[in-house]
Amino acid sequence: MFTGKGGVGKTTCSAATALHYAASGNTLAISTDATPSLSHIFEAAGGREPRQILPQLYVNEIGEPEVRQMWDARFGPEVYEVFSSFVDIDYPAFVEFMTSVLPGLGEEFMVDYIREMAQQGSYESIVWDTAPLGQTLGLLETPALLADHLRLAPRVYSRLKLGKSSREPVLEILRRWERLSAENMAFLRGEVDLTMVTIPEALAVRQLEGIFRELDRYGLRVRRMIINNVVKYEDSRFLQTRARQQRRYLEEIYAKYGDMDILELPMFPEEVKGVERLREVEKLLFY
Ligand SMILES: Nc1ncnc2c1ncn2[C@@H]1O[C@H](COP(=O)(O)OP(=O)(O)OP(=O)(O)O)[C@@H](O)[C@H]1O
Ligand SMILES: [Mg+2]
Repeated sequence: MFTGKGGVGKTTCSAATALHYAASGNTLAISTDATPSLSHIFEAAGGREPRQILPQLYVNEIGEPEVRQMWDARFGPEVYEVFSSFVDIDYPAFVEFMTSVLPGLGEEFMVDYIREMAQQGSYESIVWDTAPLGQTLGLLETPALLADHLRLAPRVYSRLKLGKSSREPVLEILRRWERLSAENMAFLRGEVDLTMVTIPEALAVRQLEGIFRELDRYGLRVRRMIINNVVKYEDSRFLQTRARQQRRYLEEIYAKYGDMDILELPMFPEEVKGVERLREVEKLLFY
């Protein structure tokens, strides 16, 4: 799993890594970004189903509609049955409401989907390109929070004069959701290898601390960090200035996170797009 703040090179690193693993076995590059770009970087068509784009390399981009489907398939009808007994709402609107309003639902099901892919065992490696990390992790707590709020639920139900038969399914659904959430956290902790991507700039370095603290809170350890966009060729005043500015952030990163595997990726004169350029990145990541 490649994580980090917006625009630092997560998709680039994910794609190059997937390319690398594809040489030795079936590999799935999967993105859970609302605006996916994995397929663009490979210059291939994207899709909600895994799609083969090179020998042993598959790409899959899942977004909002897929999450809605997953939620619908697992919980939709049961929850609707209960809610529709006191709220007048048609089913599609209900699913849309639940999946867009409840924070964390999307993240939850994306983790779940990837866990399922991992368990199926059709791929030797799965490379996971995440959405920019902001509140993403905190949202994984939603089921627990929701369950807390719903401890009050019996009171609400009695006010609504719902019978016992309607109350039980909701509590059972919540328990199932809590279990699912616990399994997903265990999967993240035990089976997912996290790589942090960052760039040597003030804003990115400042944000690292918060991200690591957050990850720590969930017991998620990051083993590797990629510092992207490092100016390596100072063949102009412009680049000399940039390199000078980057130096102090590089020093800061090494001082603070020296116990991690740290790898620098140079800033290229051109954007990284297409397999040929990705191969260059691959060589640098797996020298
Ligand atoms: N080392 C590099 N040198 C030059 N351009 C780069 C480098 N790394 C990434 N880029 C370019 O920077 C842009 C952003 O990279 P990328 O899409 O990988 O970031 P991201 O972290 O996935 O962004 P987002 O948070 O929006 O998903 C892309 O146009 C990419 O080609
Ligand atoms: Mg990206």
